[in-house]
Amino acid sequence: MLLKTLAAGALLTIPKPLQLFANEKKNAVLTEVSGTGNQLRFPPVFTNGGNMTLAETTEQVWPGQDTQIITINGSYPGPSVIIDKGQTFTANVINNLNEVITTHWHGVSTPANMDGHPRDAVAPGSSKVYTFPVLNRGGTYFYHAHADMLTAKQVYRGFAGFFIVRDPAENFNLPSGAYDVPLCIQDRRIADIPGFPYNPGNPESVWGMLGDTVLVNGTPDAYFEVSKTLYRFRLLNGSNARVYKIAFSDNRSFHIIATDGGLKDNPVQATEFMLSPGERVEILVSFAADNIGSNVTLRSLAFTHGGTLPYKQGIALDILRFDVTNNNSSGGVVPSAFNPITYYDPANVIGPPREFNLTMSGSHPMHKINGLTFDINRIDWSTRLHSLEKWTIRNLTADFHPMHTHEAQWQVLARNGNTNLPPNDKGWKDTVMLYPGETVEVLVKFTEYKGLYLFHCHNLEHEDDGMMLNFEIIDPIGIQQLGTEVPVKFELYQNYPNPFNPSTKIKFDIAKRIEENASLRIYDIRGRQVAELFNGRLNPGTFEAEWNPKFLPSGTYFARLTAGSFSKTIKLVLAK
Ligand code: C2O
Ligand code: CU
Ligand code: CU
Repeated sequence: MLLKTLAAGALLTIPKPLQLFANEKKNAVLTEVSGTGNQLRFPPVFTNGGNMTLAETTEQVWPGQDTQIITINGSYPGPSVIIDKGQTFTANVINNLNEVITTHWHGVSTPANMDGHPRDAVAPGSSKVYTFPVLNRGGTYFYHAHADMLTAKQVYRGFAGFFIVRDPAENFNLPSGAYDVPLCIQDRRIADIPGFPYNPGNPESVWGMLGDTVLVNGTPDAYFEVSKTLYRFRLLNGSNARVYKIAFSDNRSFHIIATDGGLKDNPVQATEFMLSPGERVEILVSFAADNIGSNVTLRSLAFTHGGTLPYKQGIALDILRFDVTNNNSSGGVVPSAFNPITYYDPANVIGPPREFNLTMSGSHPMHKINGLTFDINRIDWSTRLHSLEKWTIRNLTADFHPMHTHEAQWQVLARNGNTNLPPNDKGWKDTVMLYPGETVEVLVKFTEYKGLYLFHCHNLEHEDDGMMLNFEIIDPIGIQQLGTEVPVKFELYQNYPNPFNPSTKIKFDIAKRIEENASLRIYDIRGRQVAELFNGRLNPGTFEAEWNPKFLPSGTYFARLTAGSFSKTIKLVLAK
């Protein structure tokens, strides 16, 4: 009785947006249709700690037509992870497909063995528990397939979902609840209905798998009913290869409020922006001036680029129609500013300059980085924890390449030498688009975990073609981790040898993760700092620093370890 009443009420009286995170897919035929098309679907919310079961299933992506796709817990896109910063995320990913999988949490910082590296393949019939603390800023991230040479195919067939991090500390009266709407944008080929067959041929291996129609949250010809009020839309380009030039059919302006790694420092007004595969941009859009009964369409504008019609980059495409249906208010506002972002100073770069040349060459042309194609067993470079580095990426090809790093958010420094950046470049970025011929410089600092991670093109056909490198994050400069045991308490040990000449070693224990930087500094007998051996964040462990004071005179010195509320000083004697 109660169930029946609720169900009837839900269909008749609850404004549509309240069904935001309900899985409307199964009952799409029951919902009221206003105008043509299909009501925008939303994947269910993932229950933290639960299973994510990958399977080949038959769904009605296009109403009335059976389509063979990959679903996660029966849903395409997969269930949306919605989690607070600071919580521990856990999912048991079960592989019921007939080929290997890995799951990557794009933009999210995870220990190396949780990152979905293709080395950590999960066999058909097996499962893997992914678990890690959520360290990222609030923002729109996502997860997707990442198995060796199978990423493009599995994502195309449905293996992707949202990973939204909420930060309760960020409260700017933005539209929330039903007015905070994630939109996963993917293109598919209408000619291939019913199905998402994946058979890339020659043009696809060059340009990527491009479709001729756009699905939003797995909905073709989607419409979304809105109120005359302000909305927050989280746009994810979950396409394999398509780049969108996002705008509205009436050219209305909106505010860009977030990039890949969360809120910007300020909302920026815009009428269009480019969104390449893997990128996320959040916008605030108002329908307050629209008439009930009217509609406006989110579109991709035409731009010039290669490919073969209709599978061509740069064709105009409709993405999502908004039907204005009522007067409800979100109560949200466009804030004048968000929290400031501390921009890296290029003068503080201490890592070696890193250069990446993107090319397309050979008798059987392959996409390469620095002349290399991906080798799962080769480590292409190592990078130090806590060292600010500058990466210069040069696109020497005639195609777009959205370049992506795992395990950090970049800050774009310059595009073709120009530091005056478009609004969707400025802020925290893990994926950055390079137009043909462009050079982009980014600044990056890895601050969390050691281990093996990836840098690659997020055109997924390019990635599977080998446009990807392995890098290893190693101990910070001047510090070495001893063993893997987690000590029970913080400690600073007496240095050895002591007295010493010319160098000595200082061992210390970090018992638990603290948010502030830990530091190990040396002072002379008058209390003046003469050296800083370390200043940065460390995960728990036992570490050893080496001090080699070449230019200091013999005498007594003090080493002090500060880590959160822990502080201890030891006495050192230099005897030259
Ligand atoms: Cu979203 Cu390694 O990729
Ligand atoms: Cu990633
Ligand atoms: Cu590419």
